[in-house]
Amino acid sequence: MNAVTIGTPLSAFATRAVLLGAGELGKEVAIELQRFGVEVVAVDRYADAPAMQVAHRSHVIDMTDPVALRAVLEQEQPQVIVPEVEAIATEVLAEFEDRARVVPTARATRLTMDREGIRRLAAEELGLLTSNYRFADSLDELRTGVGAVGMPCVVKPVMSSSGKGQSVIRSEADIETAWAYAREGGRVDRARVIVEAFVPFDFEITLLTVRHADGVRFCEPVGHVQVDGDYRESWQPAAMSPDVLAQAQQVAEAITGALGGWGLFGVELFIVGDKVVFSEVSPRPHDTGMVTLVSQDLSEFALHARAILGLPVPQPLRLTGDGSAAASVAVLADGHGVPVFSGVDEALRVPTAQVRLFGKPRVQGHRRVAVTLARGADVEQARNRARQAADALRVELA
Ligand SMILES: Nc1ncnc2c1ncn2[C@@H]1O[C@H](COP(=O)(O)OP(=O)(O)OP(=O)(O)O)[C@@H](O)[C@H]1O
Ligand SMILES: [Mg+2]
Repeated sequence: MNAVTIGTPLSAFATRAVLLGAGELGKEVAIELQRFGVEVVAVDRYADAPAMQVAHRSHVIDMTDPVALRAVLEQEQPQVIVPEVEAIATEVLAEFEDRARVVPTARATRLTMDREGIRRLAAEELGLLTSNYRFADSLDELRTGVGAVGMPCVVKPVMSSSGKGQSVIRSEADIETAWAYAREGGRVDRARVIVEAFVPFDFEITLLTVRHADGVRFCEPVGHVQVDGDYRESWQPAAMSPDVLAQAQQVAEAITGALGGWGLFGVELFIVGDKVVFSEVSPRPHDTGMVTLVSQDLSEFALHARAILGLPVPQPLRLTGDGSAAASVAVLADGHGVPVFSGVDEALRVPTAQVRLFGKPRVQGHRRVAVTLARGADVEQARNRARQAADALRVELA
């Protein structure tokens, strides 16, 4: 047993957490940490990011710049460093690991920010079932890779998220376009991509997995729908046979165990017949897991906060009775400007509906700005309600 002490924010005895990434998921983590009296410092590359609005302090830096990141961590001297995005100079995190708890570990954040690191760990070291894959650094290598994995296949920059730079190749003619698109969508100049055989899955799930001081916990599986590599709807529980669920839990236990540390992970899995195919893992709360804001007694954010503070995590209880299923719908805005919402009242007239408006200061292009949540007697009813609420919500960019 470890004795956990928590100080008082803004005092010499503060327990201080630095969130690297201050989006909507970080905002919920910040709120949960605040509830434990943690001093929360939010960092992101733009001012007034959602989590900054609920943090004690914030810093605006380019987190991929090691000098800037090191300076903020030196100044703040946190006990806990919580990476909330992938675009971070992860080598700096390793430097602080003897002084602070990096969530879940510096190595895990390095491996998961790069599709190559996590794929090689999962497939080559742990022997987990994945799609066939190759890596390519040039158009020529991509052609060879496509030949090896076969068509249809999916091309993704090794450094990217939310479907950026990702496309499907169905014929030879698509290869060049896919290469150009991946080059534009990658987070770094390096043009490396992964090409994966397309998995004809029956459905996909996120298995939220918590590694904490006393062991491992699994939430019930979250089902979801993605469009262009970006999440649009999720629900809990995803219906699956006990046998396949047990396999999914084994995969999640293996990959999160290999990454190590404490915290919540979103393990993304494809289900094909009675097989579980590992896709990828986030070492942090997952966007599809926002449904747990209404489906469980402890949301994925509350579970994460407990785990990273070294506190025990009980088996999360899914709410029961009439509203035992739950769903979320992502609300997107397109264009340029400041989001202004109307129809919030109408959305909240849908039975059981809840709404989270993220408070993003500006939209430039295509961004998620809110989520609607609802419960129902079954998944279908919950999804219908969440969709109804999302349809009622209107976003204008002023
Ligand atoms: N090999 C594949 N076969 C079939 N579908 C795939 C494959 N790879 C990705 N997809 C689809 O695209 C979605 C996004 O892919 P992936 O999770 O790899 O990208 P991402 O950019 O990391 O997205 P996010 O950051 O939102 O998780 C998957 O959830 C799945 O629906
Ligand atoms: Mg994903």
